[in-house]
Amino acid sequence: MREIIKNTGSVYFSSSKWDILNTKINDLKPSTIFILVDANTLKYCLAFMLNKLEIKDNYKVLKIQEGEINKNIKTCEYLWNQLSENSADRQSLLINLGGGVVTDIGGFVASTFMRGIQFINIPTTLLAMVDASIGGKNGVDLGIIKNQIGVINNPAMVLICKDFLNTLPKNQLKSGYAEVIKHGIIDSKSYWDKIKIFNELNIDEMDAIIWESVVVKNNIVTIDPFEKNIRKKLNYGHTLGHAIESYSIGNHSIPSLLHGEAIAIGMVLTTYISHIQCGFPKETLTEISTYIFNKFKKIEFNQDDIKHIIKLLKHDKKKHDNKVLFVLLNDIGKHQLNFEVPQKMIFEAFDYYKNIGQG
Ligand code: GLY
Repeated sequence: MREIIKNTGSVYFSSSKWDILNTKINDLKPSTIFILVDANTLKYCLAFMLNKLEIKDNYKVLKIQEGEINKNIKTCEYLWNQLSENSADRQSLLINLGGGVVTDIGGFVASTFMRGIQFINIPTTLLAMVDASIGGKNGVDLGIIKNQIGVINNPAMVLICKDFLNTLPKNQLKSGYAEVIKHGIIDSKSYWDKIKIFNELNIDEMDAIIWESVVVKNNIVTIDPFEKNIRKKLNYGHTLGHAIESYSIGNHSIPSLLHGEAIAIGMVLTTYISHIQCGFPKETLTEISTYIFNKFKKIEFNQDDIKHIIKLLKHDKKKHDNKVLFVLLNDIGKHQLNFEVPQKMIFEAFDYYKNIGQG
């Protein structure tokens, strides 16, 4: 049975998931139901979902523009106003139907409107299914700085319906798969071995991979919901990856990158640093780097780009005493938290990345 039952944030992936959602909505008895979509989920996912729900007309659709660029406080203000103007009250329910931007922003808006209303996540991208919708992190970017404003608060439930993946372009599927790759690297050799031979575009066969990733993530966030300790390992590759992603937004020296594309680069850099600093095995580093190199587009960073990316590291949320702290690995599944990495090592890691695939 692919279900994780908890007080809040239960996850349903079994065939009865839509029935469970209908029961949940009946139990919550919301005064009004709001459904948050972006332009893509409005077009490709909303009708499908409404067809599965018993609610017939007691709902209002709230639409935001798609993309990370809109994950900001201005969009929240728009949504808070929409809720207010449409007479939302504390018994209202917000259903977030979308990818990570929709679940992050919808969760934040719901958690803050009237000090918190109930929300349900229905992720429609691979990234949101295996990562963003689970674990209660909600929030928005501050300028180009990722997820600087937010709260940890779990949804009433998460419903994962793989059918939505058929609506995604390939680059979005690959971007989501970067988080699956991360789960393999931080979890175990056995999971990594499954991931590396799986074709990430094969949605029909993806159930086991999606569910194993959900379980890996859920196990970690259940032990450490507020990221005091072990949850930090879910940030593997993200310290540099987030800085690269931020730098790529609104910068024309490198192309704009999807979250997973930036995280994939961050994982190569971090695995190199893990090799030098923590003895991560050379052959596994080569295996991971080659695998990522073959799957994701290679970006050319010049020295100036790298300096800007290093500057952006100061916004990392794991920083302590003004020191940026990395999650490194001794081997697959064996983490080291709070590792201070010298700048020189980061330049060296970019050098390693530059030379992958050069024979
Ligand atoms: N995406 C990392 C976390 O939820 O902790």
